[in-house]
Amino acid sequence: GVGAYKLLFGPFLLSRVFASFEHYSISDKAMDYRILHVDEDQDRMYVGCKDHVLSMDINNITDGTLKVFWPASNSKIEECQMAGKDPTHGCGNFIRVVQPYNRTHMFMCGSGAYSPVCVYINRGRRPEVRVVYGKWLQEQVFHIDSKSESGKGRCSFNPEVNTVSVMLNQELFSGMYIDFMGTDSAIFRSLTKRNAVRTDQHNSKWLSEPIFIDAHLIPDGTDPNDAKLYFFFRERLTDNSGHTKNIHTMVARVCPNDIGGQRSLVNKWTTFLKARIVCSVLEEDGTETHFDELENVFLLETDQPKGLLVFGVFTSTSSVFKGSAVCMYNMADILTVFNGPFAHRDGPNFQWVAFQGRIPYPRPGTCPGGAFTPDIHTTKEFPDDVVTFVRNHPVMYNPIYPVGRRPLVVRTGADYKYTAVVVDQVAAADGNYQVLFLGTDKGTIQKLIVLPSNQSVHEDLILEELEVFKVCYLSILFSQQLYVSSEYGVSQVSLHRCQAYGEACADCCLARDPYCAWDGLSCSRFYPTGKRRSRRQDIIHGNPLTQCRGFNLKAYRNAAEMMQYGVKNNTTFLECIPKSPQASIRWLIQRDNDRRKELSDRVVSTEHGLLIRSVQLSDQGLYYCLTTENNFKRTVAKIRLRVLSEAMVGLLTDKQQSPWAWASSVHPKVLLSAFSPAESMAVQQFCKERQEQKHLQQRQQQPPHPGPLRGDLAKLKPLLDRRKSRNRHSLNQPQISVTEMKCSFR
Ligand SMILES: *[C@@H]1O[C@H](CO)[C@@H](O)[C@H](O)[C@H]1NC(C)=O
Ligand SMILES: *[C@@H]1O[C@H](CO)[C@@H](O)[C@H](O)[C@H]1NC(C)=O
Ligand SMILES: *[C@@H]1O[C@H](CO)[C@@H](O)[C@H](O)[C@H]1NC(C)=O
Ligand SMILES: *[C@@H]1O[C@H](CO)[C@@H](O)[C@H](O)[C@H]1NC(C)=O
Ligand SMILES: *[C@@H]1O[C@H](CO)[C@@H](O)[C@H](O)[C@H]1NC(C)=O
Repeated sequence: GVGAYKLLFGPFLLSRVFASFEHYSISDKAMDYRILHVDEDQDRMYVGCKDHVLSMDINNITDGTLKVFWPASNSKIEECQMAGKDPTHGCGNFIRVVQPYNRTHMFMCGSGAYSPVCVYINRGRRPEVRVVYGKWLQEQVFHIDSKSESGKGRCSFNPEVNTVSVMLNQELFSGMYIDFMGTDSAIFRSLTKRNAVRTDQHNSKWLSEPIFIDAHLIPDGTDPNDAKLYFFFRERLTDNSGHTKNIHTMVARVCPNDIGGQRSLVNKWTTFLKARIVCSVLEEDGTETHFDELENVFLLETDQPKGLLVFGVFTSTSSVFKGSAVCMYNMADILTVFNGPFAHRDGPNFQWVAFQGRIPYPRPGTCPGGAFTPDIHTTKEFPDDVVTFVRNHPVMYNPIYPVGRRPLVVRTGADYKYTAVVVDQVAAADGNYQVLFLGTDKGTIQKLIVLPSNQSVHEDLILEELEVFKVCYLSILFSQQLYVSSEYGVSQVSLHRCQAYGEACADCCLARDPYCAWDGLSCSRFYPTGKRRSRRQDIIHGNPLTQCRGFNLKAYRNAAEMMQYGVKNNTTFLECIPKSPQASIRWLIQRDNDRRKELSDRVVSTEHGLLIRSVQLSDQGLYYCLTTENNFKRTVAKIRLRVLSEAMVGLLTDKQQSPWAWASSVHPKVLLSAFSPAESMAVQQFCKERQEQKHLQQRQQQPPHPGPLRGDLAKLKPLLDRRKSRNRHSLNQPQISVTEMKCSFR
C-alpha cells in the first residue's frame, strides 16, 4: 500500500443538482465529444465529435450552438464495413483535429470511416444577412468552406487511437498513426509550404507503440525561436532483457522550425529528443511503486519564478497495484533533464548508461536561429555529427521526477480512477491554492485542494464531487468555468459554487473552498482584492470556532426533532448524513428525561446512519447524531424512535389472513384509524425494510421467503385510493401514495 499517504475515502458530498450547470448534447446517443477547442478572442468553443462539429458560446454552451454535419462519404463507410470495422463505432467520421487556421477559418480533420479527411470550416465571426432574390436570408455562418482533402499524417484512421495536434503559423503538427493498420506512429508536420517532416519510420528508438495524450508549444528562454513542441505520450518499451514490454510515460520535443537534415535524417526531425516522466511513490522500505500510464496533462502558468507547472494524471494497471495519481512537474526540471546527459548503450543487450563521450556543437536538440545558434538558420545547416548524434541518442538519461519526488494525490483501492485534470490557481485569504478538478472514470469530477503539510505527507482535501457523465474525457478551464466532455455531451460548470455549501458560516468555513468565503450574510465568492471586513475564510484550519465567532454557532447544537417508528423485533435505520466527508460521527440516546448516554453494542453506526437490529421497547428514546470536524461539533439529526405495538405488527403479518381479507373484515373507519399518519409511516418503513431484505436475499441467491404479506393487494387499491382522496383534503396528514404502498408491498 501507500502507507505514508493519508487517503481520504468514504462518501463524498455528491452534488447532483446544480444551479450553475449547463449541458449540451446532439442526441442521447454516444457521440464521443472528445475534442474541445476554446477561442478566447471570439468567446467560442469548438467541439469535435462523431460526424459533427459544434461552435458554442463559451458563456453559455446551451445558448445558440451552431452545428455542422460532416459524415464520412457513403463509399468510405461501405469500404470501412467491408474491411470488417465496427460499423457504428469505427465507420463514422470522428473529428479529432480542431485547430484555428486563420481569422476566418478553422482547420478540422476526422477519421472519415478509416480514411481520414480534413476541411476548412468558416467559423463565422457574426451572423451575416444578405438578400437573395429579394428575400433576406440568414446565411449559415458556420459551415464547411472547402473540398475535403486527405487527412493522412494528420489524423489517425482508427477513432479509438488518439490524435493530438497543434497548429502553429498555419502548419499542423500531429501525433497519430499514419496508416490503416495502425502500426506506423509518427509525429508529423503537414499543411506546410515547407517540406513535411516526421519521426523516423518504424524506429522504436523514437516511438514505440505510443499512445499520444497531449501536445503543447512551450517556450525555452526568451527567444521565440527556442520554443519547442512537447508531445506527451505513453509507450511500450522493451526492458534490458528484451523480453517484457513495459509501459512508460514519455515526453518528446521537437523544434517547430526543424525542416530535417541535409544528408542524414532527410525530412525527419533533427531536433527530436525524449525523456521518461516518472510518477511514483517511494515506500518506507525503499521500494518504488510506479504509476506509469499517463492519462491526461494540464499546463498551469504561474507567476512563481519557476513559471510553468505540468500536471499529469497517471494510472497503474499492474496486477499487484491498481490506482491513480496526480503528479506535478516544474517545467524548469523538465528542461534540466533535456539539458542533462543523453542515454547511451553499446548494444541491445547492454545497460543504459549516461553518454560520456564528446557531445557535438550545437548541442543536439537545440533549435536553429535561437539564442545559442543565431548563425544557424535551418536544421539543414547542422553539422553531420549533430544529426548523427540525435539519430543515435534521442533519449535523455535522467527521468523527470515530480516536485517533491512524490505525487500530489494518490488513490488506491477506490472504485474509480482519475482520467483528467484541470488546475486553477486561487488566491485565498491565507495564501495561494491550486484547486484540482479531477475527472474520474465513473463520471464524476472531484474538486480538491492539496493542503500544505509536513515533508512526509501530502494531505488532499476533497471539497466536493460533481456528477457529470458516464465517462469524463477532458476538461478545459476558462474564465471561471469548467468545460467537461464525454461520450454523451458537453457540460459547463462554474468553478465557484459557494451557495452549494449552505447558508451558514460554519458550513462555509468547514467547506475550506478557496473560492468561497463567509461575507457576514452568506457563503459567497471570495475576491482577494475585496475590502469587506467581515469576510471569513480559513482554508488551512477550517475552524469555525475561530472564524465564525458571533455567527450563532449555538444553533448548530440543535436540530429539528423527527419522529420515526420501528417495528418490534425488526431492524430499523436512523439516517444521519454528515455535511462533510471529513466529519466524524457520534450517536447518543436520551431515554425519558435521563442524561444522554452512549449506545449499546447491539447498535451499529454506519456512514449514513444508525442500524438497530431487532428493535425493542427499550430502544425507544431520543437519538442525537453529533458530528465533529476540526473540533467543531454539531447536531445533525435528532430522531425520536417509537417502537410499534405488537398488535399492529400482528395485524400486518397475520399469516392466516391476506391483507385484503383483513382490510375487508374491518370497518373503513377502523381501517382509516389503522393507517393513522404515524402508523402509515411505520408501515412504510416496515415495508421498505422488508423489500431491502428481499433484495438482499435475492442478491445472496437465496429463494425469497414467501412472506406473510403476499396477498392480492390490487384489491386493496380502491380502498386505499379512497383513503387517499380523502386525505388530500386534510392538509395536516402526510400524503402516502398508493403506488408507494403497492411498490413496497410487491
Ligand atoms: C443558458 O441558456 C439557456 C437557454 O437560453 C438558459 O435557459 C439558461 O438559463 C442559460 N444559463 C445561464 C447560466 O445563463
Ligand atoms: C483563411 O483560410 C481559408 C482557407 O485557406 C481561405 O479561404 C480564407 O480566405 C482565409 N482567410 C483569410 C482572412 O485569410
Ligand atoms: C507529519 O505528519 C505525520 C502524519 O500525519 C505525523 O505523524 C508527524 O508527526 C508530522 N510531523 C511533523 C513534523 O509535523
Ligand atoms: C419478538 O421476539 C421475542 C423473542 O424472540 C418473541 O417472544 C416475541 O413474540 C417477538 N415479537 C413479535 C412481534 O414477533
Ligand atoms: C419483522 O418482524 C416479523 C415478526 O418478528 C418477522 O416475521 C419479519 O420477518 C420481520 N421483518 C423484517 C423485515 O425483519
